[in-house]
Amino acid sequence: MNSPEPRFLRACRRQPVDRTPVWFMRQAGRYMPAYRQLRKKYGLLEICRTPELALQVTLQPIEAFELDAAIVFADILLPLVPMGFDLSFAKGVGPQIANPVRAIDDVQRLRSFDPAQELAPTLEAIKLLRSALPASTPLIGFAGGPFTLACYMIEGGASRNYERAKSLMYTQPSAWWALMDLVTSMTQAYLLAQIEAGAQAVQLFDSWAGALSPTDYQRFVQPYSQRVLQAVAETGAPSLHFGTNSATLLELMAEAGGDAIGVDWRVELDRAWQTIGYDRAIQGNLDPSVLFGSDDEIQAQTRRILDQAGGRPGHIFNLGHGILPGTPMTAVSLVVDAVHSYQPVGQAEHG
Ligand code: CP3
Repeated sequence: MNSPEPRFLRACRRQPVDRTPVWFMRQAGRYMPAYRQLRKKYGLLEICRTPELALQVTLQPIEAFELDAAIVFADILLPLVPMGFDLSFAKGVGPQIANPVRAIDDVQRLRSFDPAQELAPTLEAIKLLRSALPASTPLIGFAGGPFTLACYMIEGGASRNYERAKSLMYTQPSAWWALMDLVTSMTQAYLLAQIEAGAQAVQLFDSWAGALSPTDYQRFVQPYSQRVLQAVAETGAPSLHFGTNSATLLELMAEAGGDAIGVDWRVELDRAWQTIGYDRAIQGNLDPSVLFGSDDEIQAQTRRILDQAGGRPGHIFNLGHGILPGTPMTAVSLVVDAVHSYQPVGQAEHG
């Protein structure tokens, strides 16, 4: 059967769609009872490293909701382990790195590696998923953005102000450049391997880029994100470039690359799109906390965002950041239904 390309991939390329596509960052995870059940038996890293378990978790939200894309279950920090970082996920604390980078010697100690060897379980999960998923549900691969990964490597965990990462930038720039260079080469190889394994689009999660001034973003990060996204562009697979708190960085992020730019809720979608430029697709941007609101509030806020997109081809509906633990499953269904049943006003104008 000659079925049309799935609406998520069409929207990435700004082609017209019958309905706005919708998926959620962190769509697999603790808000789902099926995930929590599995987590009683297996650790997070264990799930990520067992292709059959990663497959099963990736499919949980696909089976529960009418989503327009699947995202392989993994974590942006997985590649840190083969680089030589001692990574663990402590309950209630989040990711912890026992041997963070603090100086050039620490950078020189890091290993470069072949993702096909060291990240084989995620690549294997992608292959399994491509045969398990219906043709109408494309599979997204992903990696952390260079700044976000470097922050974890330097801070050793979550951080409020990123003062250690910034202090390395400002006091030991050669260590910063060496680290960014290594992270960029690794991320590029990893994303290309995911595409080769069957990922039909990839997202670069530079979640913490918004911690930087536009000047520092341009100087310390943009060239590296650009290198990664350029390499992805050469494969022909669409890329999504995401950050939070990024309202003042949108032009620079778009300049770095990405067929679609992911935006959070701190900026209005129509303003963000105008800033990014209509030659790019946009992804976003419902506040994840709205899913704790009343049904009316959830539907009204979903429609407001769709109104702001104005029926222009190239909007991918998503939250402005990952689904929060504790989110009601019914709220997720409500958003999906509101997006899919939306009738754009004035779609004809945009053809
Ligand atoms: O979207 C999906 O369904 C795919 C799975 C996915 C995970 N992590 C699994 C995960 C994705 C896309 C990520 C990305 C990720 N991981 C990011 C970028 C996106 C963002 O949220 O900004 C970041 C910064 C991380 C690092 C990370 N991993 C943190 C900060 C934490 C702990 C915080 C928390 O929510 O507990 C993790 C753990 C993690 N990764 C969980 C999941 C489902 C929680 C899982 C658990 O303990 O069972």
